[in-house]
Amino acid sequence: MNSKRRNPPKYPFQEWSESMPFPKTCDLCTYGCQCESPVGLIPLAKGRVLIAGLGMGWLTRRVLEKTEVSHVVQVELEPEIIRVFGQPLIEMFPGKISFVSQNVWKYLEGVDISEFDTILFDIWPGYRDAPDDAKFKKLKRKHPNVWGWGDY
Ligand SMILES: C[S@@+](CC[C@H](N)C(=O)[O-])C[C@H]1O[C@@H](n2cnc3c(N)ncnc32)[C@H](O)[C@@H]1O
Repeated sequence: MNSKRRNPPKYPFQEWSESMPFPKTCDLCTYGCQCESPVGLIPLAKGRVLIAGLGMGWLTRRVLEKTEVSHVVQVELEPEIIRVFGQPLIEMFPGKISFVSQNVWKYLEGVDISEFDTILFDIWPGYRDAPDDAKFKKLKRKHPNVWGWGDY
């Protein structure tokens, strides 16, 4: 096999993310369950969006691709995750994303949540953990467009 590529991607992440088309079903997801993924969060995003939990950035990239989304504030606990998976997104969507390296619950104490049109959460290890999280349920009562993985 010829391992030399004509236009290798700058980041391995880029190739992985590009190879995943805008999903219509969940069978392409990278999660062990192979049937449930954060795809359901994508159609809910509009305007100025807060996303909690970057991970490998798949959800964030799909949200950034939407023309109805003006800006994404990405909150992520781990600086190393932002360095590895966030940097490509800054280059791919210049000016459309900013990062905050902080626990999202701490971050929310210091902001006016009405500045966001949409708030998306993907910080939990398991599908449908969101609806059982007391802090998440409280936040949902304060803002009409708060959604979590498995909560739609
Ligand atoms: C399931 S992954 C997100 C996957 C991502 N949606 C994707 O498409 O690749 C969860 C991420 O949330 C982050 N995280 C967990 N708890 C957090 C918290 N309290 N505040 C901010 N980020 C958190 C983790 O470090 C991890 O990067």
